[in-house]
Amino acid sequence: MKAIQAHPRQGLDGLTLMDLPDPGDSGPTVIRVLVHATSLNFHDLGVVTGRLPCANGCIPMADGAGVVEAVGSKVTEFKPGDHVVSTFFPTWLDGEATLADFTTTPGDGIDGFAREVVVAPATSFTRAPAGWSHAAAATLTTAGVTAWRALVVNGGLKVGDSVLVLGTGGVSIFALQIARAMGATVIATSSSDEKPERLRTMGAAHVINYRQDENWGDRVRDLTGGTGVDHVVEVGGPGTLAQSINASRVGGHISLIGVLTGRAGDVPTAMLMARQHRLQGLIVGSRRHQVDLIRGIDAVHGHPVIDRSFPRAEIADAFRLQESGGHFGKIVVEY
Ligand SMILES: NC(=O)c1ccc[n+]([C@@H]2O[C@H](COP(=O)([O-])OP(=O)(O)OC[C@H]3O[C@@H](n4cnc5c(N)ncnc54)[C@H](OP(=O)(O)O)[C@@H]3O)[C@@H](O)[C@H]2O)c1
Repeated sequence: MKAIQAHPRQGLDGLTLMDLPDPGDSGPTVIRVLVHATSLNFHDLGVVTGRLPCANGCIPMADGAGVVEAVGSKVTEFKPGDHVVSTFFPTWLDGEATLADFTTTPGDGIDGFAREVVVAPATSFTRAPAGWSHAAAATLTTAGVTAWRALVVNGGLKVGDSVLVLGTGGVSIFALQIARAMGATVIATSSSDEKPERLRTMGAAHVINYRQDENWGDRVRDLTGGTGVDHVVEVGGPGTLAQSINASRVGGHISLIGVLTGRAGDVPTAMLMARQHRLQGLIVGSRRHQVDLIRGIDAVHGHPVIDRSFPRAEIADAFRLQESGGHFGKIVVEY
């Protein structure tokens, strides 16, 4: 089978298309999936460029979607021909989070979805949304589930709530879509001069340029009548958290998700305490969260925002686009 291997010391030039042995199809509880698409996340970029540990020759990509080719004798949930999408934590099926690392995550601790065939326990996949392409389904594993968990599972989002999303990457655009679909008002930020129009078309009530206005937390407060928002989808990390805290209402909920500005820094703890915020860190979600997200997508006939699709041989160019920050929503690679 064809597979892409990463050689992180060589950066994106180290992504190499290889012929590897077919994994077979043995085991009563596994399914054999022909993978047709993956999508890019900031995490995957970290793996292929060596920011996150990955052995020379590891197979990257956390997200995968494709068709079931064969099922083990004890598998009842899937049959050959079903369209499936992978889960971020193959062993976290339901209930409270128990994992605090990526050792079980495809494309990090174990081989990922940059390959033609994956044989894995049936529980490491869910069905794909009805009628979605493989490229569309492949956007859900990391970005879609993270946005869902932040707003719906942890945030208890309800109609009329206000949501702040930062930038126009995969997680933030999913959060915008989920918030709008559930009747929330969205304030978005972007560094771009072109992207705000697109954000408004998608239903953002206001867009703030976070590069031009470094006190964008104050602008969010102004736009909410001095109150602040109910939820922040915090993908920036240490460089944005202080503004996000300032942008949140008393008792507001901040989902701490991202590291776009780094991995450690000062937090205005007194303001966090005085405003009585709920600051919740999270890593993606469980299989149950993914199943619930897909049920919601089916109900509202949702569709992801795919900026661009690349063929497998051009995966390095796909990552270069992601590095440039020029994308809006998701970038996918199709096999
Ligand atoms: N904890 C989790 O479970 C989890 C899951 C998924 C992702 N993440 C993290 O969430 C972050 C986003 O991931 P992603 O895959 O959505 O990334 P992505 O698609 O690569 O997002 C990149 C976009 O983020 C925006 N951005 C960059 N720096 C920013 C800043 N200082 N302030 C506000 N926006 C900024 C830019 O938007 P503009 O061009 O509009 O400025 C950029 O285009 C990453 O740190 C990733 O590691 C965490």
